[in-house]
Amino acid sequence: MKSLTSIFESIWSDYTAFNPHAKTIYDQILAHERQKHPETRALVNDHIALRTFNHPRLNIQVLGRLFEKHGYEAKGEYHFEDKKLYARHWEHSDPAVPKVFISELLTQHFSPRVREIADAAAASFTDAQLAAPEILWAGRPWKASHAVYQELLKESEYAAWLYAFGFRCNHFTVYFNALKSFTDLNDLNDFLIGKGHKLNAAGGLIKGTPQECLEQSSTLAGKVHLEFSDGRFEIPACYYEFARRYPQANGQLYTGFIATSADKIFESTNVQQSSR
Ligand code: NI
Repeated sequence: MKSLTSIFESIWSDYTAFNPHAKTIYDQILAHERQKHPETRALVNDHIALRTFNHPRLNIQVLGRLFEKHGYEAKGEYHFEDKKLYARHWEHSDPAVPKVFISELLTQHFSPRVREIADAAAASFTDAQLAAPEILWAGRPWKASHAVYQELLKESEYAAWLYAFGFRCNHFTVYFNALKSFTDLNDLNDFLIGKGHKLNAAGGLIKGTPQECLEQSSTLAGKVHLEFSDGRFEIPACYYEFARRYPQANGQLYTGFIATSADKIFESTNVQQSSR
């Protein structure tokens, strides 16, 4: 069985190959940390996020099971009424291992076209492929056209993204609490803006408050040239997120997610907003 470390390495390589801005930011933050703390070896991830359809063969349980094999447990549930999404997060017994946030599109609330696309996506994988971790960075084995992508955008940005990119990590998240050289999330945001990165301003640069025990910010998805059956087009890919967690009343660090914040974070991949 592939180790959890090698699974995360594969997910990270696929993600950074598509999203060079994430790797640039990773290197810039690490360099900033090393100025005062040369012993810093790597940044810690708070969570990664994955997207799928609620198709019986592809739903969040199917993806979640791959992590459960490695000691993860399903935790919080989240509902996104407007975007018609359902999500859960998984936690590992070792808090140093990133949490996994998986969302799924509730296809019954969309046109038959969306369900056909989910069926075609499911049909492009064998049962054995769906039970192996490689599905997490399998990308898009199905044929996709830019015309259909644009059609989907009218119904759901999420559906269009999933159709175009398939199964790959939507974002990694830097765990702010493990950083030593930034005073707060604002300080980190200013640093990133100063380096020329564009941040998602939907709902303010910082989503959530210390009272809610979670503050998050994110970049706007970088644009990539993607091959479609009807040509090569530039569309927004993935973003990079930053999360700061606070202790709850019981003194324990909050480990969940805030649906209203996540709702705005999802918009980091919106076509209208995206930066490069
Ligand atoms: Ni996230």
